[in-house]
Amino acid sequence: MKQLLTAALLLALCATPARAGEVDMDRLNAFAKDMVATKAQAIGYPGNQEVGLQDFYLWFAQSGLADVCMNNVGNPRKASLSALNTHQFENEVVDFFAPLYGFKKDETWGFVTYSGTDGNNHGIYFGVKYLLSQSKLKPILYVSNEAHYSIKKLGDLQGLDMRLIPADLQGRMDVAAFEKALDPTRPALVVVAMGTTFKGAIDDQNAIDAALKRKKPVAVYRHLDAALFGGYLPFTEHAHLVDRAKRNFDSIAVSGHKFFGFDEPLGLFITTKDVLARQNPFNVPYLLDAVPTITCSRSALGALKFWWKVQKTGEAGYRQQAGQILKNAAELKRRFDALGYPAWRGDFSNTVYFRRPSQWVMEKWLLAPDEDPRLGGKLAHNIVMQHEGLETIDLFMRDIERDMREQAAKR
Ligand SMILES: Cc1ncc(COP(=O)(O)O)c(C=O)c1O
Repeated sequence: MKQLLTAALLLALCATPARAGEVDMDRLNAFAKDMVATKAQAIGYPGNQEVGLQDFYLWFAQSGLADVCMNNVGNPRKASLSALNTHQFENEVVDFFAPLYGFKKDETWGFVTYSGTDGNNHGIYFGVKYLLSQSKLKPILYVSNEAHYSIKKLGDLQGLDMRLIPADLQGRMDVAAFEKALDPTRPALVVVAMGTTFKGAIDDQNAIDAALKRKKPVAVYRHLDAALFGGYLPFTEHAHLVDRAKRNFDSIAVSGHKFFGFDEPLGLFITTKDVLARQNPFNVPYLLDAVPTITCSRSALGALKFWWKVQKTGEAGYRQQAGQILKNAAELKRRFDALGYPAWRGDFSNTVYFRRPSQWVMEKWLLAPDEDPRLGGKLAHNIVMQHEGLETIDLFMRDIERDMREQAAKR
């Protein structure tokens, strides 16, 4: 009944006479149908397709907010000149997640970002300024060569000397190589991967820390790129891996549209007030001198949707979802193993990577390609998100089996 009402209201909204003549609804509807039909097979990229924001949009349209321009510009934790924002909800989202990442209530500063990349941009920028507050020397950025390309691009954008550290077979930073590359005469800005993009590898923070202690660079800042795994790890028995109290990092970036499931890119950036205090304020009188973010205008709607999801899902809901994706990823790996098909899965990872199948399988399941000569060359991966249940895994593996048969027949 509720779904019928939602559909009726959305239809009524779409049919609003003032706009109907200007918008090609047939085209739009065909497009929407195509997107909805495709999502079940989207298993190659880490978007959680169980978005379920129908209730939110229904409320949003009815509330009148679809006719209001809101903007979260400014520091959400400080008074703002404009009342037209969702800072109160944004702060509650950060307050919900900060303790899960081991930040103490009094030390926390953070905001809802546009994406994981936006969070990484802030991590690197804030890290540079933090390190410059301790030494006038420009830091060196250290990151594994299997980390997300955004880190390398952002380091480049910020004009940083970068040391790309080789990764082991599973995609983890080679810590011996890191230690060798560490320059003790310069500050170190280390970006740690909590789930690399392709292999889902987790860099060893304890080993990285031990190397830093031995080499003692002038100053150290650690940023965690936890775009994907930062979403679910806090809700598992491996929560310590993203816990600042146990792993001693200075900031963390997480994507919102991955594990948490949104209809568009979103994210979280959390750090400490101490790090914030060491930023160049670039006073902005017309905005009450309070714009710590790189981006000026920020989405009020994104923060509101995040708040809505947190209320609806809660810790118990996230815990259940985290358990489910890890269990299903283990089952997917088991299915590959049962076929004797080359496939790998890192610790605590929802990503299974395997020998790349034929192009028709890649296209049908929207799989992402990569290559690693050490693992036999061409690879693909399946990132098990909430919408990939056992039925989908079964359908996918039947295609893998069929592909194996067809390939064998050609030999
Ligand atoms: C490890 C890692 N970091 C950063 C990003 C970038 O995140 P976003 O797409 O939210 O900008 C991704 C995206 O896949 C990622 O896998």
